[in-house]
Amino acid sequence: MNSVDIENAVTILRKGGLVAFPTETVYGLGADASNAAALEKIFLVKGRPIEHPLIVHIASLELAAQWSVSISPLAERLAQAFWPGPLTLILRRAPHVLDRVTGGQDTIGLRVPRHPLAQKLLHAFGGGIAAPSANRFGHISPTTAGAVIEELGSVVDLVLEGGSCEVGLESTIVDMSTDMPVILRPGAITPADIEAVLHCAVATSRQDAPRVSGMMQIHYAPQTRAQLISPHSLTLFLQRVPTEDLPIACLARRHPVWQRDKLTWVIMPERPKDYAHELYRVLRYVDKSGFKRIVIEAVPEDPAWDAIRDRLQRATGGRVLHVDLI
Ligand code: TXA
Ligand code: MG
Repeated sequence: MNSVDIENAVTILRKGGLVAFPTETVYGLGADASNAAALEKIFLVKGRPIEHPLIVHIASLELAAQWSVSISPLAERLAQAFWPGPLTLILRRAPHVLDRVTGGQDTIGLRVPRHPLAQKLLHAFGGGIAAPSANRFGHISPTTAGAVIEELGSVVDLVLEGGSCEVGLESTIVDMSTDMPVILRPGAITPADIEAVLHCAVATSRQDAPRVSGMMQIHYAPQTRAQLISPHSLTLFLQRVPTEDLPIACLARRHPVWQRDKLTWVIMPERPKDYAHELYRVLRYVDKSGFKRIVIEAVPEDPAWDAIRDRLQRATGGRVLHVDLI
């Protein structure tokens, strides 16, 4: 990546075009957050419902005051601890912020990403870049430039190549717009990380969250039917899969104890950080490989796995199956 690409990207953004760019979480589909027509294109290209708000990416914390009217001392503490990084803060919006960004709510999502290319782009552009994940609505977020091209291809004016995303899952979203911090979406920054900085407990919300597309039950979903199976049921479940449901892919953190024809076993990493990095890439790969079903071994209940468990539940529709339930 050279400075010509960044210059090119900035020119496109200034003209109201779309630039897909890497962040350390997933690739974003970026547009000038102050240009209503450009924002319109994001919704069109993604097929995203218009009331779903967008995260505005900025180069540094100093710029947050341009987008939010009140940044509480606690919010500022979080920003200082985790920006640049995989954290989105929901704050009270400034009056000029377009409704297309906020979905008509009185809050705005702000993030300072740390990927060097995102940093370069934001510094060169100067303004805010509104960017959802660079996938079609409901699909798996892209973690490589190739995946962005697969998702959006020619409808994007430019895709900046920034390698494979370090984290691999979307940012942690924390609502700091009221006195009570609430985690709206789990991510690489955990509740414990946040509590250690705030010195107070944080709630995790699903029910009363504002409109967050990531909150929908089926989201980040592969096209192939995917199921979550408890580790102790896995072998029995696979033995019972009817022949008409083959070929089948199984994602598990261990080697198979048993093999069958037309069963492809994908060994997933042991550690949550590595698992997160791989998950969307693997899901995307198995989703386009002609399997009739994808079976995923449920991950540990430990909080370190929260973000992964959340995405797996969304990818599969929720319930962990135990064979005695089937
Ligand atoms: O890691 C990420 O957050 C990536 C990268 C590109 O930054 N972005 C991302 O954007 O995941 P998106 O649009 O796919 O998901 C952002 C989530 C959406 O579910 C949206 O509804 C929520 O953030 N959001 C944005 N603004 C909000 C607001 N004001 N209040 C509540 N939720 C908000
Ligand atoms: Mg998304």
